[in-house]
Amino acid sequence: MKLFLDTANVSQVAEITAWGVLDGVTTNPSLVLKEGKDSSTHSTSSGQAGSLQVFKKTVLEMCKLVPCVSAQVTATDSAGMIKQGLEYAAWHKHVVVKVPMTTEGLKAITFFASKKIKTNTTLVFSAAQAMLAAKAGATIISPFIGRLDDQGEDGMNLIAEIMEIWQQHGFTTEVLVASTRHPRHIVDAARLGAHICTIPYDVFKKLPNHGLTDSGLKKFQEDWKKVSGR
Ligand code: E4P
Repeated sequence: MKLFLDTANVSQVAEITAWGVLDGVTTNPSLVLKEGKDSSTHSTSSGQAGSLQVFKKTVLEMCKLVPCVSAQVTATDSAGMIKQGLEYAAWHKHVVVKVPMTTEGLKAITFFASKKIKTNTTLVFSAAQAMLAAKAGATIISPFIGRLDDQGEDGMNLIAEIMEIWQQHGFTTEVLVASTRHPRHIVDAARLGAHICTIPYDVFKKLPNHGLTDSGLKKFQEDWKKVSGR
């Protein structure tokens, strides 16, 4: 299973890349806002045009570090999504155009598939939506499990349903488990055969840790000091 970092922070991407385990990055407008940047695009106002340049710089820096960077369109009509997506895709071959799961989004995904431009369908909350996006030609679909959990549903059950359908019908679209909240989500997604998991920075930092690793290493170091002190 590929592991992506869910962030708009380049330093975080560089840090996890150095571990040798990072396969990609997902960004969204809320993550960009969190970093003090705005991903609004295609406005004639100099402020928004400047923000697009900052977003582009961030995406390009990430593209140097990982082979797959999702950049989300902010238009809600298919023509606007196509215009933005064509621009993003021209920035770098590692860019994947992130498109929301709407009927306008499906039209845009169909267009991008015809041009062999990679897409990631975001805001997927049902198996029916997942199938439609795959049929439209999405490269990746992103079911959001944490947000389903947040409202009392079982997000991982959606992943199980999608993986079952994928096996039955041979869909090749990659299933990216998004909106993960804790390490167990990543393990459960892997067990279900999901292709990718995107992980927030604070959750990613928890993955290498185990109390028994820490106490075991401490004991080995103490014992080695005793051996060398003999
Ligand atoms: C990634 O592509 C998604 O935008 C992200 O995982 C959403 O996570 P959230 O539900 O924590 O905002």
